[in-house]
Amino acid sequence: MIPITKPFFDEREERAAAEAIRSGWVVQGPRTQEFEKMVAERVGAQYALATSNCTTALHLALIASGIGAGDEVLVPSYSFIASANSILHAGATPVFVDIDARTYNLDPALLEEKITPRTRAIMPVHQIGLAADIDTIHAIARKHNLSVIEDAATIIGGTYKNKPIGAHSRAVCFSFHPRKAITTGEGGMVTTNDPEIARQIDMLRSHGANVSDYARHGAAQVIIEEYPVLGYNYRLTDIQGAIGVEQMKKLDWILERRLEIGRRYNEAFADLDFIATPYEPPYAAHTYQSYCLRVAHNAPKTRDEIMAEMQAAGIATRRGVMAAHLEPVYVNRYGRVALPVTEEATRSTLLLPIYAQMTQAEVETVVRVLRQILGA
Ligand SMILES: Cc1ncc(COP(=O)(O)O)c(C=O)c1O
Repeated sequence: MIPITKPFFDEREERAAAEAIRSGWVVQGPRTQEFEKMVAERVGAQYALATSNCTTALHLALIASGIGAGDEVLVPSYSFIASANSILHAGATPVFVDIDARTYNLDPALLEEKITPRTRAIMPVHQIGLAADIDTIHAIARKHNLSVIEDAATIIGGTYKNKPIGAHSRAVCFSFHPRKAITTGEGGMVTTNDPEIARQIDMLRSHGANVSDYARHGAAQVIIEEYPVLGYNYRLTDIQGAIGVEQMKKLDWILERRLEIGRRYNEAFADLDFIATPYEPPYAAHTYQSYCLRVAHNAPKTRDEIMAEMQAAGIATRRGVMAAHLEPVYVNRYGRVALPVTEEATRSTLLLPIYAQMTQAEVETVVRVLRQILGA
Protein backbone atom coordinates (compact mmCIF):
# COMPACT_ATOMS: atom_id res chain seq x y z
CA MET A 1 0.00 0.00 0.00
CA ILE A 2 1.29 3.48 -0.83
CA PRO A 3 0.17 5.64 2.12
CA ILE A 4 -1.07 9.20 1.85
CA THR A 5 1.92 10.39 3.86
CA LYS A 6 4.68 9.20 6.17
CA PRO A 7 6.83 11.14 8.63
CA PHE A 8 10.52 11.21 7.77
CA PHE A 9 12.18 9.92 10.93
CA ASP A 10 15.48 8.06 11.32
CA GLU A 11 17.97 7.31 14.08
CA ARG A 12 18.53 11.05 14.62
CA GLU A 13 15.02 11.55 16.05
CA GLU A 14 15.36 8.29 18.01
CA ARG A 15 18.63 9.45 19.53
CA ALA A 16 17.33 12.95 20.31
CA ALA A 17 14.20 11.58 22.02
CA ALA A 18 16.27 9.09 24.01
CA GLU A 19 18.65 11.84 25.14
CA ALA A 20 15.73 13.94 26.37
CA ILE A 21 14.40 10.96 28.33
CA ARG A 22 17.84 10.17 29.81
CA SER A 23 18.31 13.82 30.82
CA GLY A 24 15.39 13.54 33.22
CA TRP A 25 13.82 16.79 31.91
CA VAL A 26 10.89 15.88 29.71
CA VAL A 27 8.46 18.83 29.90
CA GLN A 28 8.93 22.15 28.04
CA GLY A 29 12.60 22.93 28.59
CA PRO A 30 15.95 23.36 26.82
CA ARG A 31 15.17 21.24 23.76
CA THR A 32 11.87 23.00 23.21
CA GLN A 33 13.72 26.32 23.49
CA GLU A 34 16.19 25.18 20.85
CA PHE A 35 13.33 24.08 18.58
CA GLU A 36 11.66 27.48 19.09
CA LYS A 37 14.87 29.31 18.25
CA MET A 38 15.27 27.33 15.03
CA VAL A 39 11.70 28.05 13.94
CA ALA A 40 11.97 31.77 14.84
CA GLU A 41 15.18 32.09 12.82
CA ARG A 42 13.78 30.14 9.92
CA VAL A 43 10.63 32.24 9.59
CA GLY A 44 12.28 35.56 10.48
CA ALA A 45 10.20 36.20 13.60
CA GLN A 46 11.49 37.56 16.89
CA TYR A 47 9.59 35.08 19.05
CA ALA A 48 8.44 31.48 18.66
CA LEU A 49 6.40 29.76 21.35
CA ALA A 50 5.83 26.03 21.16
CA THR A 51 2.42 24.65 22.08
CA SER A 52 0.87 21.20 22.32
CA ASN A 53 -0.60 21.49 18.79
CA CYS A 54 -1.77 24.11 16.29
CA THR A 55 -5.34 24.17 17.60
CA THR A 56 -4.06 25.28 21.01
CA ALA A 57 -1.66 27.71 19.29
CA LEU A 58 -4.62 29.32 17.49
CA HIS A 59 -6.67 29.38 20.69
CA LEU A 60 -3.89 31.19 22.56
CA ALA A 61 -3.20 33.58 19.67
CA LEU A 62 -6.87 34.59 19.71
CA ILE A 63 -6.97 35.09 23.50
CA ALA A 64 -3.66 37.00 23.48
CA SER A 65 -5.14 39.25 20.77
CA GLY A 66 -8.00 40.07 23.12
CA ILE A 67 -10.66 38.12 21.21
CA GLY A 68 -13.48 36.54 23.17
CA ALA A 69 -17.23 36.46 23.81
CA GLY A 70 -19.28 38.66 21.48
CA ASP A 71 -16.51 38.97 18.90
CA GLU A 72 -16.63 37.69 15.33
CA VAL A 73 -13.67 36.26 13.42
CA LEU A 74 -13.69 35.83 9.63
CA VAL A 75 -12.36 32.42 8.61
CA PRO A 76 -12.65 30.11 5.62
CA SER A 77 -14.87 27.07 6.13
CA TYR A 78 -12.68 25.22 3.62
CA SER A 79 -10.16 24.09 6.23
CA PHE A 80 -9.64 21.43 8.81
CA ILE A 81 -12.33 21.99 11.45
CA ALA A 82 -9.69 23.05 14.01
CA SER A 83 -9.43 26.54 12.44
CA ALA A 84 -13.06 27.40 13.22
CA ASN A 85 -13.07 25.38 16.45
CA SER A 86 -10.25 27.49 17.89
CA ILE A 87 -12.51 30.55 17.48
CA LEU A 88 -15.35 28.82 19.33
CA HIS A 89 -12.90 27.74 22.06
CA ALA A 90 -11.99 31.42 22.53
CA GLY A 91 -15.70 32.14 23.07
CA ALA A 92 -15.99 34.09 19.78
CA THR A 93 -18.06 33.39 16.65
CA PRO A 94 -16.51 32.11 13.42
CA VAL A 95 -18.01 33.83 10.39
CA PHE A 96 -17.33 31.71 7.32
CA VAL A 97 -16.03 33.31 4.14
CA ASP A 98 -15.88 31.57 0.77
CA ILE A 99 -12.64 30.77 -1.05
CA ASP A 100 -11.03 31.52 -4.38
CA ALA A 101 -11.76 28.59 -6.72
CA ARG A 102 -8.18 28.38 -7.96
CA THR A 103 -6.07 28.85 -4.82
CA TYR A 104 -8.60 27.27 -2.39
CA ASN A 105 -7.66 30.08 0.01
CA LEU A 106 -9.89 32.74 1.49
CA ASP A 107 -11.14 35.12 -1.23
CA PRO A 108 -10.23 38.63 -0.01
CA ALA A 109 -12.90 40.14 -2.29
CA LEU A 110 -15.58 38.50 -0.13
CA LEU A 111 -14.28 39.72 3.24
CA GLU A 112 -15.81 43.19 3.47
CA GLU A 113 -19.40 42.05 2.97
CA LYS A 114 -19.02 39.85 6.08
CA ILE A 115 -17.63 42.58 8.33
CA THR A 116 -20.01 43.78 11.10
CA PRO A 117 -19.47 46.05 14.12
CA ARG A 118 -18.55 42.88 16.06
CA THR A 119 -15.81 41.72 13.69
CA ARG A 120 -12.46 41.76 15.45
CA ALA A 121 -10.14 39.56 13.41
CA ILE A 122 -9.45 37.69 10.20
CA MET A 123 -7.98 34.19 10.31
CA PRO A 124 -6.63 33.38 6.85
CA VAL A 125 -5.63 29.74 6.38
CA HIS A 126 -2.69 28.90 4.11
CA GLN A 127 -4.33 25.80 2.75
CA ILE A 128 -2.35 22.60 2.08
CA GLY A 129 0.92 24.47 1.67
CA LEU A 130 -0.04 27.50 -0.44
CA ALA A 131 0.04 31.01 1.06
CA ALA A 132 -3.14 33.07 1.14
CA ASP A 133 -3.00 36.62 -0.27
CA ILE A 134 -1.65 38.20 2.91
CA ASP A 135 -1.07 41.77 1.65
CA THR A 136 -4.62 42.13 0.34
CA ILE A 137 -6.00 40.67 3.57
CA HIS A 138 -3.84 43.03 5.65
CA ALA A 139 -5.04 46.05 3.67
CA ILE A 140 -8.66 45.16 4.52
CA ALA A 141 -7.71 44.43 8.14
CA ARG A 142 -6.01 47.84 8.46
CA LYS A 143 -8.98 49.63 6.95
CA HIS A 144 -11.37 48.05 9.49
CA ASN A 145 -8.95 47.88 12.43
CA LEU A 146 -8.95 44.07 12.62
CA SER A 147 -6.28 41.67 13.90
CA VAL A 148 -4.88 39.04 11.56
CA ILE A 149 -4.09 35.63 13.01
CA GLU A 150 -2.68 33.30 10.40
CA ASP A 151 -3.48 29.61 10.44
CA ALA A 152 -0.17 28.44 8.99
CA ALA A 153 -0.67 24.84 10.14
CA THR A 154 0.32 23.39 6.78
CA ILE A 155 3.01 25.76 5.57
CA ILE A 156 6.21 25.61 7.62
CA GLY A 157 9.00 26.70 5.25
CA GLY A 158 6.56 28.27 2.78
CA THR A 159 6.72 31.83 1.52
CA TYR A 160 4.55 34.78 0.49
CA LYS A 161 6.21 37.11 -2.07
CA ASN A 162 9.48 35.30 -1.36
CA LYS A 163 9.37 36.10 2.36
CA PRO A 164 8.88 33.23 4.80
CA ILE A 165 5.43 32.73 6.30
CA GLY A 166 5.73 33.45 10.02
CA ALA A 167 6.35 37.17 10.44
CA HIS A 168 3.72 38.92 8.31
CA SER A 169 1.04 39.11 11.00
CA ARG A 170 0.88 39.61 14.75
CA ALA A 171 0.45 35.90 15.35
CA VAL A 172 1.16 32.99 13.00
CA CYS A 173 0.34 29.43 14.07
CA PHE A 174 2.05 26.28 12.78
CA SER A 175 1.28 22.56 13.21
CA PHE A 176 3.70 19.67 13.60
CA HIS A 177 1.06 16.95 13.26
CA PRO A 178 2.29 13.90 11.24
CA ARG A 179 0.36 15.04 8.14
CA LYS A 180 2.63 18.10 7.96
CA ALA A 181 6.05 18.36 6.26
CA ILE A 182 7.83 17.97 9.60
CA THR A 183 6.35 16.53 12.76
CA THR A 184 6.81 16.13 16.49
CA GLY A 185 3.90 13.67 16.81
CA GLU A 186 1.61 16.40 18.03
CA GLY A 187 2.94 19.93 18.25
CA GLY A 188 2.34 23.57 17.41
CA MET A 189 4.09 26.93 17.44
CA VAL A 190 3.08 30.59 17.47
CA THR A 191 5.51 33.03 15.88
CA THR A 192 5.25 36.77 16.42
CA ASN A 193 7.24 40.00 16.49
CA ASP A 194 5.05 41.42 19.24
CA PRO A 195 6.67 41.08 22.69
CA GLU A 196 3.34 41.45 24.48
CA ILE A 197 1.69 38.66 22.43
CA ALA A 198 4.75 36.48 23.15
CA ARG A 199 4.60 37.23 26.88
CA GLN A 200 0.90 36.47 27.06
CA ILE A 201 1.20 33.20 25.16
CA ASP A 202 4.19 32.14 27.25
CA MET A 203 2.04 32.48 30.39
CA LEU A 204 -1.21 31.18 28.93
CA ARG A 205 0.35 27.94 27.66
CA SER A 206 1.61 27.12 31.14
CA HIS A 207 -1.36 27.59 33.51
CA GLY A 208 -0.99 31.38 33.47
CA ALA A 209 2.25 31.27 35.49
CA ASN A 210 4.58 34.27 35.20
CA VAL A 211 7.74 32.09 35.49
CA SER A 212 8.20 28.78 33.69
CA ASP A 213 9.10 25.51 35.44
CA TYR A 214 12.39 25.43 33.59
CA ALA A 215 13.36 28.98 34.59
CA ARG A 216 12.57 28.20 38.25
CA HIS A 217 14.53 24.95 38.02
CA GLY A 218 17.60 26.74 36.68
CA ALA A 219 17.52 29.74 39.04
CA ALA A 220 20.14 30.25 41.75
CA GLN A 221 17.52 31.52 44.22
CA VAL A 222 14.11 30.20 45.14
CA ILE A 223 11.46 31.71 42.86
CA ILE A 224 7.80 31.54 43.77
CA GLU A 225 5.70 32.06 40.69
CA GLU A 226 2.43 33.95 40.40
CA TYR A 227 -0.62 33.25 38.24
CA PRO A 228 -1.85 36.60 36.96
CA VAL A 229 -4.18 35.15 34.31
CA LEU A 230 -6.32 32.06 33.75
CA GLY A 231 -4.08 29.75 31.74
CA TYR A 232 -4.06 26.31 30.19
CA ASN A 233 -1.70 23.39 29.99
CA TYR A 234 -0.81 23.65 26.31
CA ARG A 235 2.91 22.86 26.60
CA LEU A 236 5.00 20.77 24.25
CA THR A 237 7.11 18.08 25.93
CA ASP A 238 10.90 18.25 25.66
CA ILE A 239 10.87 14.81 24.00
CA GLN A 240 8.84 16.41 21.22
CA GLY A 241 11.08 19.49 21.32
CA ALA A 242 14.11 17.24 20.75
CA ILE A 243 12.40 15.61 17.76
CA GLY A 244 11.48 19.07 16.43
CA VAL A 245 15.14 20.13 16.45
CA GLU A 246 16.08 17.15 14.26
CA GLN A 247 13.10 17.68 11.96
CA MET A 248 14.02 21.34 11.44
CA LYS A 249 17.50 20.28 10.28
CA LYS A 250 15.79 18.21 7.55
CA LEU A 251 13.19 20.78 6.55
CA ASP A 252 14.90 22.07 3.41
CA TRP A 253 15.53 18.62 2.05
CA ILE A 254 11.99 17.49 2.83
CA LEU A 255 10.47 20.53 1.09
CA GLU A 256 12.74 20.09 -1.92
CA ARG A 257 11.70 16.47 -2.33
CA ARG A 258 8.00 17.30 -1.97
CA LEU A 259 8.40 19.96 -4.62
CA GLU A 260 9.91 17.44 -7.02
CA ILE A 261 7.01 15.05 -6.50
CA GLY A 262 4.44 17.85 -6.84
CA ARG A 263 6.02 18.99 -10.10
CA ARG A 264 6.05 15.45 -11.46
CA TYR A 265 2.33 15.06 -10.73
CA ASN A 266 1.65 18.46 -12.32
CA GLU A 267 3.39 17.39 -15.49
CA ALA A 268 1.83 13.90 -15.48
CA PHE A 269 -1.77 15.19 -15.41
CA ALA A 270 -1.31 18.44 -17.36
CA ASP A 271 -2.85 16.99 -20.56
CA LEU A 272 -6.14 15.94 -18.89
CA ASP A 273 -8.67 18.74 -19.32
CA PHE A 274 -11.06 17.19 -16.78
CA ILE A 275 -8.41 17.22 -14.04
CA ALA A 276 -7.17 20.48 -12.48
CA THR A 277 -3.70 20.38 -10.96
CA PRO A 278 -2.74 22.89 -8.23
CA TYR A 279 -2.64 26.54 -9.27
CA GLU A 280 0.13 28.88 -8.19
CA PRO A 281 -0.73 32.58 -7.90
CA PRO A 282 2.00 35.15 -8.71
CA TYR A 283 2.61 35.83 -4.99
CA ALA A 284 3.31 32.31 -3.69
CA ALA A 285 4.97 29.02 -4.54
CA HIS A 286 3.31 25.77 -3.45
CA THR A 287 4.97 23.63 -0.77
CA TYR A 288 2.61 20.68 -1.37
CA GLN A 289 1.80 19.80 2.21
CA SER A 290 -0.88 17.86 0.34
CA TYR A 291 -1.18 17.33 -3.39
CA CYS A 292 -4.71 18.17 -4.50
CA LEU A 293 -6.47 17.36 -7.78
CA ARG A 294 -9.90 18.61 -8.78
CA VAL A 295 -12.09 16.25 -10.79
CA ALA A 296 -14.38 18.12 -13.22
CA HIS A 297 -17.98 17.09 -13.95
CA ASN A 298 -17.01 15.82 -17.40
CA ALA A 299 -14.39 13.39 -16.05
CA PRO A 300 -14.97 9.71 -16.93
CA LYS A 301 -15.16 8.83 -13.21
CA THR A 302 -16.41 10.69 -10.18
CA ARG A 303 -14.06 11.74 -7.40
CA ASP A 304 -15.45 9.00 -5.13
CA GLU A 305 -15.09 6.30 -7.81
CA ILE A 306 -11.49 7.34 -8.37
CA MET A 307 -10.75 7.16 -4.64
CA ALA A 308 -12.32 3.69 -4.35
CA GLU A 309 -10.40 2.35 -7.37
CA MET A 310 -7.13 3.82 -6.13
CA GLN A 311 -7.73 2.16 -2.76
CA ALA A 312 -8.38 -1.19 -4.46
CA ALA A 313 -5.10 -0.77 -6.35
CA GLY A 314 -3.18 -0.23 -3.10
CA ILE A 315 -2.89 3.56 -3.22
CA ALA A 316 -4.27 5.69 -0.41
CA THR A 317 -6.04 8.94 -1.28
CA ARG A 318 -8.05 11.35 0.83
CA ARG A 319 -10.90 13.67 0.00
CA GLY A 320 -9.72 17.26 -0.44
CA VAL A 321 -10.14 19.67 2.43
CA MET A 322 -13.39 19.49 4.43
CA ALA A 323 -15.95 22.29 4.73
CA ALA A 324 -16.44 23.05 8.42
CA HIS A 325 -19.71 24.92 7.90
CA LEU A 326 -21.42 21.70 6.72
CA GLU A 327 -20.60 19.80 9.90
CA PRO A 328 -23.40 19.36 12.48
CA VAL A 329 -21.42 21.21 15.15
CA TYR A 330 -21.74 24.37 13.00
CA VAL A 331 -25.07 23.72 11.26
CA ASN A 332 -26.67 23.19 14.69
CA ARG A 333 -25.30 26.51 15.94
CA TYR A 334 -25.61 28.79 12.93
CA GLY A 335 -27.96 27.03 10.47
CA ARG A 336 -27.03 26.16 6.92
CA VAL A 337 -24.76 28.87 5.49
CA ALA A 338 -24.23 28.81 1.68
CA LEU A 339 -20.61 28.87 0.45
CA PRO A 340 -20.85 27.65 -3.15
CA VAL A 341 -17.15 27.66 -4.07
CA THR A 342 -16.20 25.84 -0.86
CA GLU A 343 -18.96 23.27 -1.33
CA GLU A 344 -17.96 22.53 -4.90
CA ALA A 345 -14.27 22.27 -3.92
CA THR A 346 -14.90 19.89 -1.05
CA ARG A 347 -17.05 17.66 -3.33
CA SER A 348 -14.69 17.49 -6.27
CA THR A 349 -11.13 17.32 -4.89
CA LEU A 350 -8.89 14.50 -3.77
CA LEU A 351 -5.39 14.25 -2.35
CA LEU A 352 -2.65 11.98 -3.70
CA PRO A 353 0.20 10.42 -1.70
CA ILE A 354 3.13 12.74 -1.12
CA TYR A 355 6.01 12.40 1.35
CA ALA A 356 9.73 13.08 1.21
CA GLN A 357 10.94 9.47 1.17
CA MET A 358 8.44 8.39 -1.50
CA THR A 359 10.44 6.60 -4.19
CA GLN A 360 10.36 7.59 -7.84
CA ALA A 361 8.83 4.15 -8.56
CA GLU A 362 6.00 4.86 -6.11
CA VAL A 363 5.35 8.25 -7.70
CA GLU A 364 5.21 6.64 -11.15
CA THR A 365 2.86 3.93 -9.83
CA VAL A 366 0.44 6.61 -8.61
CA VAL A 367 0.62 8.35 -12.00
CA ARG A 368 0.12 5.14 -13.98
CA VAL A 369 -2.75 3.82 -11.86
CA LEU A 370 -4.62 7.11 -11.84
CA ARG A 371 -4.25 7.55 -15.60
CA GLN A 372 -5.48 3.97 -16.12
CA ILE A 373 -8.52 4.59 -13.93
CA LEU A 374 -9.29 7.69 -15.99
CA GLY A 375 -8.76 5.80 -19.25
CA ALA A 376 -6.01 8.25 -20.24
C1 LIG B 1 -5.40 24.26 8.35
C2 LIG B 1 -5.26 23.58 9.68
N1 LIG B 1 -5.46 24.26 10.81
C3 LIG B 1 -5.33 23.69 12.01
C4 LIG B 1 -4.96 22.37 12.13
C5 LIG B 1 -4.84 21.79 13.49
O1 LIG B 1 -3.54 21.42 13.78
P1 LIG B 1 -3.23 20.44 15.00
O2 LIG B 1 -3.61 19.07 14.56
O3 LIG B 1 -1.75 20.59 15.20
O4 LIG B 1 -4.01 20.92 16.16
C6 LIG B 1 -4.74 21.62 10.97
C7 LIG B 1 -4.33 20.24 10.93
O5 LIG B 1 -4.33 19.36 11.54
C8 LIG B 1 -4.90 22.23 9.72
O6 LIG B 1 -4.71 21.55 8.58
